[in-house]
Amino acid sequence: MPLRPPMMRHLKSPDLFGPIDRLPALGLSTGERTFEVINPSTGEVLAELPDMGVEETRAATDKAYVAQPGWAALTARERSDALWRWHQLIIEHADDLAAILTAEMGKPLFEAKSEVSHAAAYLQWYAEEANRIYGETIPAPSRDRRMLVIKQPIGVVGTITPWNFPASMVARKISPALAAGCTIVLKPADQTPLVAGAMFALAHQAGFPEGVVNLIYSSKADAVGRELCANPKVRKISFTGSTEVGRLLMRQCSDQIKKVSLELGGNAPFIVFDDADLDAAVDGAIQAKFRNAGQTCVSANRLYVQSQVHDEFVQKFVERVRQLSVGDGFAPGVDIGPLIDKDAVAKIESHIADAVAKGGTIRCGAERIDKRGTFFEPTVLTGISSVMAVAREETFGPLAPIIRFDDADQVVRDANDTIYGLAAYFYASDLKRVWRVAEALEYGMVGINTGRMSSEAAPFGGIKQSGIGREGSRHGLEDYLEMKYLCIGGI
Ligand code: SIN
Repeated sequence: MPLRPPMMRHLKSPDLFGPIDRLPALGLSTGERTFEVINPSTGEVLAELPDMGVEETRAATDKAYVAQPGWAALTARERSDALWRWHQLIIEHADDLAAILTAEMGKPLFEAKSEVSHAAAYLQWYAEEANRIYGETIPAPSRDRRMLVIKQPIGVVGTITPWNFPASMVARKISPALAAGCTIVLKPADQTPLVAGAMFALAHQAGFPEGVVNLIYSSKADAVGRELCANPKVRKISFTGSTEVGRLLMRQCSDQIKKVSLELGGNAPFIVFDDADLDAAVDGAIQAKFRNAGQTCVSANRLYVQSQVHDEFVQKFVERVRQLSVGDGFAPGVDIGPLIDKDAVAKIESHIADAVAKGGTIRCGAERIDKRGTFFEPTVLTGISSVMAVAREETFGPLAPIIRFDDADQVVRDANDTIYGLAAYFYASDLKRVWRVAEALEYGMVGINTGRMSSEAAPFGGIKQSGIGREGSRHGLEDYLEMKYLCIGGI
C-alpha cells in the first residue's frame, strides 16, 4: 500500500495511483527496501515507496534501449498523438496532481495548479513540435552530388528532476525527448516523487508502448546518477539541480563524451532603475522573489535599486511583503508554504546573520514561524553590499536583500560579477536603456518589466556555470536530436 491516509484525503480519485500498486506495469521492479515521502508542512508520512538502486536503473535502461528503435520508427503523428493523450489525461486529473504536489512539496495549492497546467502546456507544445522535425537540403558545390541533413533521436535519455517543480520539470524534459523519438529513464527527487509517479501512471493509461517511459523511485541519487552516466546504453543526461551536482554529472559523462543538458543554479539580479514604474517593479519583485517561497532557480537573489527611487521602493515593497501569508499550502489564502527542509532554513538564517554582522538592516521578517517546522517569515534586508554572502550565493528561500546603487553602468558590471548566468530582471522605461541593459546582461534569460518569464514557448536555460542547453520552444527539441549529414555522390 504505497499511499498513506493523509495523502488519500486530498484526492478526488485515489485510484489515480492504481497502476503504482502494479509497479511492473510502469516498467519498474520492486525490492525489499522502501523510503518515505513526507509532507513538509505537517511532517506526516504520505507514502512509502520502493527504494530502487543500480540494478533497477540498469533494468529500466535495458527496457528503454530495447523500446527506442520502435518508438523512433513511429510516424511523428503517432508520437504526437500519444503526447496529446497524455496531455488530456493530465488536464482531466489536474486537481489531483496539484493536491499531490502541494502535499509532498508544500507549495500553495494555487501555485501547484499553475505548475500542473504549465506541465500540461509542455506536453501540448511538444505534441505539436513532434510534427515539425525538419531537416535541410544544402546546395552542393559540385553537379554530381546532393547534400542534405536529417535529424534523428539521440537514443535513451537519463533524466533527473528536482523537488522544487516536480511536475513541470518532468514534462519539460520528457515531452521533447519523446517527441524527438527518444525513450527515457526518469529519476525524480526523492522528496517529491509522487506527482511524477502519478504522471507516469497517466502516461501508462495514455498508451505509451512498453519501455518508452521508465521511472526510478530512489533515495540513492548518487548511485542512480552514476549508473545513468556510466551506462553506455544511455546516450544523454538531462539534469536540473545545483551547479555542484551538474559538475559531477558532467565529469561522470566525460568518459563516454555523453551529451548533457544541464539547468543549474543561479544568482539572479533584479534591477530597478530610476525611470521604472515603481508599482509594477514592486509587483514583479514579489513574483520573482517569493514565488515558490523563493525556491526557484530563477528567483531574484539580489535586488539593486537606484538611489533616487530606493526609499520609495523599499517602503512599498516591505508593505507588500508584510501582507504575505505563510502556512500550509492547503490553507486558503496562503502565499508561501514551508521550505523543503531544515537545511534550507539554516541557509537563510546564516545569510541573514552574515549580512547583519556586516552592517545590513532587517526591514521585516527574519524569524522561523514554527520552531519545529520549516516555515520562515518573508524577509527584507537593506544596506546590503557585495561582500555579503547573500549577494554572492544563491539563497533559495524567501529572503530579499536590497542593494542601493548610483551608477547605471556599474550596476550591470556588478550584476554580471558572478559565475552564474541563468536569469536576470530589470525595470526601466527608457527604450535606449532597455536595449543596452538587455544586451549587456550576461544571462540566458532576461525579464524586462516582468518578474516571471517561464513559458513552454520560450527557450529556458543559462550560460556560464548555470548550464548547457535549453528547455521549451523549438530549441528544446534540438537538444534531443542528432544532426546527420548525407552526401549522395555519382548523380
Ligand atoms: C526553475 O527551474 O527553478 C524555475 C521554473 C519555472 O520558473 O517554471
